[in-house]
Amino acid sequence: MTDFLKGYDIQYWLESCPQGYLTDTDYGHKEGAKEPEILMADDTLREQAIRLTVQLIAGERCALAASSGLINAAPDEASKRFLATQTLDEARHVEIFTQRLYDLGIRKNDLESTIATYANPNLVKFAEILLEKVDQKDFVAGVVGQNVILEGMAFNVFEMLHSANQEANPKFAQILSGTIADERRHVGFGENRIGALIQENPDRKADVEKLQREMSYYMLATFGEQFRSGPSPDEVRHIMEDAGVESKASDTEWQGVKMSDTSPEELEAVLSDTILKEFKIRLGRIGIDYQTPQRPAAA
Ligand SMILES: [Fe+2]
Ligand SMILES: [Fe+2]
Repeated sequence: MTDFLKGYDIQYWLESCPQGYLTDTDYGHKEGAKEPEILMADDTLREQAIRLTVQLIAGERCALAASSGLINAAPDEASKRFLATQTLDEARHVEIFTQRLYDLGIRKNDLESTIATYANPNLVKFAEILLEKVDQKDFVAGVVGQNVILEGMAFNVFEMLHSANQEANPKFAQILSGTIADERRHVGFGENRIGALIQENPDRKADVEKLQREMSYYMLATFGEQFRSGPSPDEVRHIMEDAGVESKASDTEWQGVKMSDTSPEELEAVLSDTILKEFKIRLGRIGIDYQTPQRPAAA
């Protein structure tokens, strides 16, 4: 096996993750950390947080199904072992975001119905396209779909959310930062492992390019709906003002935009552009030609 394994073996994972940045965390955050009071007190803000968290759970459940499914499709032992560590990471992500729903007041008996109510249908479709490849034991398409497309998207979404919550919700921000560190490892594996496989199997390129185009479409459609759901930034500001809570997001910047001054439409555009640009670069490195997705009709 080539040295792609360096940095992707179980020993490295143990030292850097459970014994490293997750040391002394409780469901991904400092013990005793709480959601902000205003979020728990205001139904509109709480529902917005629940809706967002459901999308994260839907994405992470897909990653758990994909990474575990790909273990038996992997052509080599080193990839199987990496995917075993990734499977545990993804299971943890599902668990910590599920715990956040409970912290936001969702009762355990209502978990599945809450997820069914709020999960974005475009995100569900995005997951189905990937999991179909995994079910077919198509390792090349599965890894590109998961470790380049799904996780490239997740990585940037988490970074954006981290910027938005660093001041306003340190508990959520810490959960996200541990998740971001995990996703960075997963994305790295995709690139390192799959480039050689694409070179060995050039006949797979067209299929993988079609997959990227389709998944990108549903990703954009998910964002389109997500950024238009829930209260507007003005409404949020009013809720905060009425409660006498100072907005703490004002100085936080992400991708050169100030989180508090940016409209949802602008933020959506910056997020989509950031992710698609990154797809192009990462896919280019593994020898795949990026396909521009269709733009979903505005909701
Ligand atoms: Fe994840
Ligand atoms: Fe991941």
